[in-house]
Amino acid sequence: MGHSSYANSKAWVVALAILCMIVAASAGSFYDEMDITFGGERAKISNGGQDLSLSLDQYSGSGFQSKHEYLFGRFDMQLKLVSGNSAGTVTTFYLSSQGAGHDEIDFEFLGNTSGSPYTVHTNVYSQGKGNKEQQFHLWFDPTAAFHTYTIVWNAQRIMSTSSVNDNRAWRTQEVDAAGRNRIRWVQNKHMIYNYCNDHKRFTNGLPTECKRSRFL
Ligand SMILES: *[C@@H]1O[C@H](CO)[C@@H](O)[C@H](O)[C@H]1NC(C)=O
Repeated sequence: MGHSSYANSKAWVVALAILCMIVAASAGSFYDEMDITFGGERAKISNGGQDLSLSLDQYSGSGFQSKHEYLFGRFDMQLKLVSGNSAGTVTTFYLSSQGAGHDEIDFEFLGNTSGSPYTVHTNVYSQGKGNKEQQFHLWFDPTAAFHTYTIVWNAQRIMSTSSVNDNRAWRTQEVDAAGRNRIRWVQNKHMIYNYCNDHKRFTNGLPTECKRSRFL
């Protein structure tokens, strides 16, 4: 299959936040808000609790998880992905509820061999049901510098994006005409898989939300 190296899972960087209840968005200290779940020295809280950084080396990765649960929020994550041969690395950033019928919003960056692009994989689970995968190749080099990846989750919508304006009004974050054009551009030029176009997979008809997401 030409992807044998992919099977040798090199490392994981996991960023996990648990949600369910509302919490004031004001950032306290990461010492109070987050638990480092694995990675020892590779996960660090610094700057008096204002910064939390994760890294991976050739042996393993690192991860953290929020202590609290949230209902709605805007989550910004700055990531610089492994360069060169990154096949077998998975960098993931997800929000998940606990228990049966769980909800989840996922960002996964799947590494590749040198010179081949990362795949960004997104999914949303609602009441334990996923099957809402989309995949993208990025329009910039995610290994050259830190980029901000954002999940906006409010009562109107869920957006996973790397083109969000620095706008604190995430609670009612509307997508304006420019934003819709930008999303269309990403979907037309950079999306490599969309479950909403997979008629072979959903032989009994596409999921109902696919009609609405096309509007975007
Ligand atoms: C690796 O790159 C190839 C193109 O060279 C692409 O077809 C494939 O989807 C990529 N794999 C991953 C896991 O991103």
